[in-house]
Amino acid sequence: MKLTMNLGPNSYDIILKRGALNNLRHLTDLTHRKVMIVTDSGVPREYTLGIQAQCTDGRICTVPQGEASKSMKVYGQVLGEMLDFGMDRTSLVIALGGGVVGDLAGFAAATYMRGIDFINCPTTTLSQIDSSIGGKVAIDMGDAKNIVGAFWQPKLVVIDPDTLATLPKRHYINGMAEAIKAGLICDAQLFQLFENGDIYADCEEIIYRSLMVKKHVVERDEKENGERKILNFGHTIGHGIEAVKGIKGRRTTGLYHGECVALGMLPMIQDKQLAKRTRALYRKIGLPARCSFNKEKVLEYMRHDKKSAGDSITVVKVPGLGCWRMEKISMEKDLPALIGLSGEE
Ligand SMILES: NC(=O)c1ccc[n+]([C@@H]2O[C@H](COP(=O)([O-])OP(=O)(O)OC[C@H]3O[C@@H](n4cnc5c(N)ncnc54)[C@H](O)[C@@H]3O)[C@@H](O)[C@H]2O)c1
Ligand SMILES: [Zn+2]
Repeated sequence: MKLTMNLGPNSYDIILKRGALNNLRHLTDLTHRKVMIVTDSGVPREYTLGIQAQCTDGRICTVPQGEASKSMKVYGQVLGEMLDFGMDRTSLVIALGGGVVGDLAGFAAATYMRGIDFINCPTTTLSQIDSSIGGKVAIDMGDAKNIVGAFWQPKLVVIDPDTLATLPKRHYINGMAEAIKAGLICDAQLFQLFENGDIYADCEEIIYRSLMVKKHVVERDEKENGERKILNFGHTIGHGIEAVKGIKGRRTTGLYHGECVALGMLPMIQDKQLAKRTRALYRKIGLPARCSFNKEKVLEYMRHDKKSAGDSITVVKVPGLGCWRMEKISMEKDLPALIGLSGEE
């Protein structure tokens, strides 16, 4: 399947096909330029070697797995390896891995020699469903996530669902939260596919439909001046929960990003019946439907995170399946009430 992201001069194709990585050389030029494949230590080596074998002059840069690699230090190391390899403005960076690798390698490509070609080959559900398209690339600084970054669209995105066979189950389910998000805000049929189908057997359709939602939103608002903000549905509270409960740094237990977003979406669903269906769906596929967390701490993080916005923030709510609306709410009054509701049955 091929989709095209129509962004004028920044347009690109998204190839969604089993086995597509074995044919990468037929999809782009891997022969007449230096190619740096950026991956992480958790991505099976066979995928990386399979791509390198298709390049005439390809080098692999492997960073440690985990969010900590989206740092200034690792970013500097990647740039150092690119320089050492003698990459120039005609060279290519390929990201092979999940959202961490995509964000890091994409930012390195965006900034090396003021920007060189970048191809994203996502290998997690989260990155195949969401993060590999849209052109947001970034690294973190301490607790400030994605604080240094750019809009840098890839030249091509190659999604090979065969790579998901090796992805640990919890990561597989984690990424599905972003697809449920897409269904809730824009695609009732996608949501129903979760209710009636199977996340493994239907994975290609889930990925395709989620990408269609994101594609249309990003095409209308590439730089997030307006409508693109709807993709942050569930993320306002989700990021707060992630700050307090997320797996990061030395913390080895806790929740993944998608799991936090899943929880963050619940209070924003205004139709009680739909909220109930969503919780039932989470239970069916293995996402958390409730979780105990220190609400004061989550609130404190959110106040701190959004302090520049004053007392009010704009959040995305879902009044009914497949619809969204933005609402300005008060940080001091409305937000605590919403958080109080998040674990309710
Ligand atoms: N740029 C965007 O628009 C955007 C959107 C959403 C999230 N993100 C970012 O994405 C990141 C999270 O991405 P993620 O959930 O993909 O996590 P991740 O990149 O950390 O990958 C999860 C784990 O799976 C391993 N892995 C990857 N592919 C594998 C495979 N095929 N088989 C076995 N193991 C594999 C990795 O080594 C890693 O340990 C966060 O940093 C988040 O900020 C970016
Ligand atoms: Zn997300």
